[in-house]
Parts: sequence; structure tokens; C-alpha cells
Amino acid sequence: MRIFVVNGPNLNLLGHREPEIYGLESLADIELLMTNRAEELGIDLKFFQSNSEGALIDAIHGHRDCDGVIINAGAYTHTSLAIADALVSVALPAIEVHLSNVHAREVARHHSFLAPVVWGQVAGFGFRSYLAALDLLHARLTEVAPS
Ligand code: DQA
Repeated sequence: MRIFVVNGPNLNLLGHREPEIYGLESLADIELLMTNRAEELGIDLKFFQSNSEGALIDAIHGHRDCDGVIINAGAYTHTSLAIADALVSVALPAIEVHLSNVHAREVARHHSFLAPVVWGQVAGFGFRSYLAALDLLHARLTEVAPS
């Protein structure tokens, strides 16, 4: 099982960027925590981060052979129909992740272009949002439909 983990703008600065909102963990810390959990679950993770919308879209297209996607599109969550279209185009189950509880923040962060095209959102649990998304996607990809 292969899962693509994609992070958008400004998430390369995690650990330094507004730690009272996003936590003290760097993106590398989060990727290591995910890798450790993925090993327990037998999942191969592919990581990508970019500050550019087009690069994020190209990376989603380039990982369409994966089994699922975990995406934190950062502020593009609230602006990018193009990233939503990319997720639809690759037709993979996807989970939208946010470190912060976007629904408890400014109104501009309440709307997500991704929400209608993903399986679900995990928001507000800091780095644990990513770990929860990993477990949820693993469950979905391994579960047998009830008879
Ligand atoms: C974020 C929330 C977004 O509103 C913000 O623009 C980010 C990070 C989060 O993980 O909480 O860059 O996606």
C-alpha cells in the first residue's frame, strides 16, 4: 500500500511558523512520526511539499499510482479549485488534514475547496491530525465491505 502525503505553502516552516497555532514540530518531525507509524501498518509513504500551486498539482498527477492521498494544502485549501480538480482527476481516496482547527479561526479559513472532493477532514489536532489521517486511510484501504 502506498500513500502520497502532500503539503502546501508555508508548511516547510513548521516548527518556526506561529508555533502557538501549528505546534513545535517541524515538517521533518511529522514525516518521521508518520514513517514510524506507516512501518507498523506496512505502508510505503511518499512525501512532497511545495509553496507553488502548479507544483502541487503536478505532484498529485505524478502520484496517481498510489492508493490514497493525505493532503494539507495550507492556504490553497481556501482558494484552489485547481487542486480540488487535481484530486478528482486522479480518482484516489483522499483525506484533508489541518494542524489547526480551521473552523474556529477566521471566516476565510472556514471554506474548503477540497472538502467536497475528499473522503473527510481531520483538523485541529496538531501533528496528530496527520497520524489520525494515516490510520483512517489505512482502515479504508484494508477494510472488507460488510456482507
Ligand atoms: C493549515 C490551515 C490553513 O488555513 C493555513 O493557511 C495553513 C495551515 C493548517 O494546517 O492548520 O497554512 O492548513
